[in-house]
Amino acid sequence: MDFSSDTSAPAHPAVLEAMARVNSGTEPSYGNDSVSKHLREVLARTLETEDFEFWLCASGTASNALALSCFCPPTGAVLCHEESHIARDERGAPEFFSGGGKLQLLGGKGAQIDETALRQALAAIDHGFVHETPAHVLSLTNLTESGTAYSRETLAHYAALAREAGLTVHLDGARIANALVNTGASLAEMSWQAGIDVLCLGLTKTGAVGCEIIILFGEARKKAPELRARAKRAGHMPPKMRYLSAQALAMLDGGLWLDLAATANQRAKQVADMLCKHPGTELLHAVQGNEIFVRLDNKVADALRQAGASFYPWLEGSYRLVTNWKTGEDTVERLSKLVV
Ligand SMILES: Cc1ncc(COP(=O)(O)O)c(C=O)c1O
Repeated sequence: MDFSSDTSAPAHPAVLEAMARVNSGTEPSYGNDSVSKHLREVLARTLETEDFEFWLCASGTASNALALSCFCPPTGAVLCHEESHIARDERGAPEFFSGGGKLQLLGGKGAQIDETALRQALAAIDHGFVHETPAHVLSLTNLTESGTAYSRETLAHYAALAREAGLTVHLDGARIANALVNTGASLAEMSWQAGIDVLCLGLTKTGAVGCEIIILFGEARKKAPELRARAKRAGHMPPKMRYLSAQALAMLDGGLWLDLAATANQRAKQVADMLCKHPGTELLHAVQGNEIFVRLDNKVADALRQAGASFYPWLEGSYRLVTNWKTGEDTVERLSKLVV
């Protein structure tokens, strides 16, 4: 009954099998291998475009920080939600990798940026005024840090506003599969077709060992040489890239990643419904992915803990429960016996 994080989950066996399959013979290093070349073909199919460049990382923090550093200069800022992972959970990595770029925090419910706040921040950009830090990038997250999903339409609307103001649009997609399953949008619709310039496509939380893909679309492709140089300098140039590519292939080719996210989302709904049977339960946000943010009656929280359930305390006395591809219906069943 481990609801602490989706990163606590094991990797899916298909991912390990794919890594084992590429584990023979020699291959060129640093992404020049045949497995990574095959990944490009599968990515093109998955993204429904050839107009992209990509790079692989083992952590979401590295992919966000590297991606942002290519578009935010040391004298610029990234607009992001005040609860975003890049602002709250990355120990200053985006600022460090960009050489001092600033994060400009915006509010909004359910960790989704409020449109008025976004419009005000965009209107206030003045590159000629030396006393303020002009925004160069808008960073959005889907699934958000509150477990809600931006619709494809909202994402496209925000991206259009940001692009009109000359910004690059970054999407932190550490849990994008969960958002896609929830909204029914395709990856193409939720990324380049919505005006996203740079996508950090996360597969680790979905079921990989450790595999995040930075994808540059359209004009942003020009930054590919810089991205590679920054990856090298930052120590994020995996010499045996084929093992990362093998993970991505196992997840993307055939749609396993969406199946796994669908299971995780379904379990989250079941857990939330079950917790809500208790009158003392209050859901803080709609459950639109694999995360539940909830206030629980103290007796229920204690009973769950004593029975061995693990989950994190969250803001203002609430709790966060996260499901993953391996969360079984039996686990939900066990939990339901404790919520009385
Ligand atoms: C929204 C979001 N982005 C990025 C990350 C990256 O995390 P990590 O560096 O642990 O792979 C996380 C992890 O919790 C996350 O929730």
